[in-house]
Amino acid sequence: MDMYLLLFLFVLILRPLLVFAAWGYTDDGSNYVIDVGSKLVFKVSKTNGDINSIVYGGTEYQGYSGKNSHIESGLGRSTVTITSYSSPSYLIKVTVTYGTLVHYIVARYGQNNIYLLTNKGDVSVPASRFILRLKGNILPHDSSMPDFYDDGGAAIEASDVTQSPHGYTKSKHYQGSNYGRVMDFDYVGKTTGRVGIWLIRSNHEKASGGPFFRSLVRRSSSDADDLYEILFYSMGHTDPQRWGLQGPYVLSFTDGETPKKELFARNANWSWFDTLGIKGWVAGSARGYVAGVGIANMKNGYTYTVALSNPDHQYWGVAAGGGGAYTIKSVVPGTYKLTVYKGEYEVYTTSITAKAGSATSLNTIKPDSDPSDVTAIWRIGDWDGTPGGFLNFESTPYKPTYMHPSDPRLSSWDPEDFTVGKTATSSFPGYMWKDVNNDHLVYFKLTAAQITSEKTIRIGITEAYANGRPIIAVNGWNSPLSSASTQGGTRSLTVGTYRGNNHIYSFTVPASAFLTDANGWNILKISVISGSGNTGYLSAGISIDCVDLY
Ligand SMILES: *[C@@H]1O[C@H](CO)[C@@H](O)[C@H](O)[C@H]1NC(C)=O
Repeated sequence: MDMYLLLFLFVLILRPLLVFAAWGYTDDGSNYVIDVGSKLVFKVSKTNGDINSIVYGGTEYQGYSGKNSHIESGLGRSTVTITSYSSPSYLIKVTVTYGTLVHYIVARYGQNNIYLLTNKGDVSVPASRFILRLKGNILPHDSSMPDFYDDGGAAIEASDVTQSPHGYTKSKHYQGSNYGRVMDFDYVGKTTGRVGIWLIRSNHEKASGGPFFRSLVRRSSSDADDLYEILFYSMGHTDPQRWGLQGPYVLSFTDGETPKKELFARNANWSWFDTLGIKGWVAGSARGYVAGVGIANMKNGYTYTVALSNPDHQYWGVAAGGGGAYTIKSVVPGTYKLTVYKGEYEVYTTSITAKAGSATSLNTIKPDSDPSDVTAIWRIGDWDGTPGGFLNFESTPYKPTYMHPSDPRLSSWDPEDFTVGKTATSSFPGYMWKDVNNDHLVYFKLTAAQITSEKTIRIGITEAYANGRPIIAVNGWNSPLSSASTQGGTRSLTVGTYRGNNHIYSFTVPASAFLTDANGWNILKISVISGSGNTGYLSAGISIDCVDLY
């Protein structure tokens, strides 16, 4: 054998070793040290499953103030095991078991990603989030960011809403201008231009709140940057907590660019997880989909969304403009409530059954509960399940979704009285509080023919805080007291969300309540009542969708 051949064989033997030189894991006594075989090396504590080191391109990004990245604020002593796979790909899976919770941390050869999955067994282990904690002053931040707590800010509500020295209100809850609703974003994160750090959300099939849910997803201060995957969030939630497997959600590192679209929940092909023994995993082949040919009578200027929900799962798809065709992908088989939303307002519901491996096809749906189908004598705002268009909600993204209602950038919540036919919709308050801008007056005229019969005044709300609900007076007539609606938990209007349960308060006003002089101005007074609530913006409040009379 000549020397060249020997050398060739030698190289051939060495080649796999060279290719896989870095890929794999070691045990340093305290941690599993996982090298993805590219630019990412991370450590998982063998004691509690914390990710306590993330080195990308030679730089450590993980942690501040001695804190790690983990579920909740860390799980405590857990059973942590590690498994390597060579099929269907080179993979490493760390399994962290803590009581009824099983959390998975997965690496794939050559991918600068950490794939995360979390199975919440029951209420015995609180699991509202995964938090990625990053060192401060690596990722960019500036005072214009609603979720950046400026140095020197002072708490103005609880400990999580502050006012900066320059006056802007700040909170980790204020994501309206960054990310909006769950359906509006695929990932959260930041880039320095040279390094991008992204947390790509899961499909949220076992999260809560539906497509329009808003919650915290990012936070920063000069000494810390956090990214969150929200598994269940107590603020403004109206949905039950769901149990079982959430994920994959993916921590992805790049050289500055945005993350790969193939990792987005709506695009990903996760078939390579099928054989990894993930508790609660449902393979693509065991899922079905729902396809609707269209929605009749769609109103111009609105996005229609079709959502599925049952106690175990939730999904959604956006209807195409024009005919309203829609597809809802990767649905776990089961019986679901299907809801058609115009904007964020439920205009139709039905029950459907999704089957494995096939489509559930639906004929054209004709919405039957759009309040705007009633011809009103007058209407302030529009029925879309949001306070959009009202005072402080004139521009998108809506300012109160990324600032506190006390923020100096907002207009006074107590504008002048509203005169139908004269005052702009944008001068009607989108939020009303018992203690801030109560007893708003609306002036309107009715013709001689109109005052011969009783009328209905509807006030639609999208959320209420502290059991706030409206009552009305028309001239000298007073409506009966109204009852509280079922709404989201803890805070809402002050933490950047108006998204609760849409509810219409309908008042029948007797003809005798109206002025007999058709030239006279009737006065409608709208008041918020409640026996609960605190003071100021934490007094009982409502978010208004629409007010009309017919
Ligand atoms: C997902 O990937 C697997 C493995 O590469 C492939 O067999 C399957 O067809 C893919 N599924 C889809 C829906 O593209």
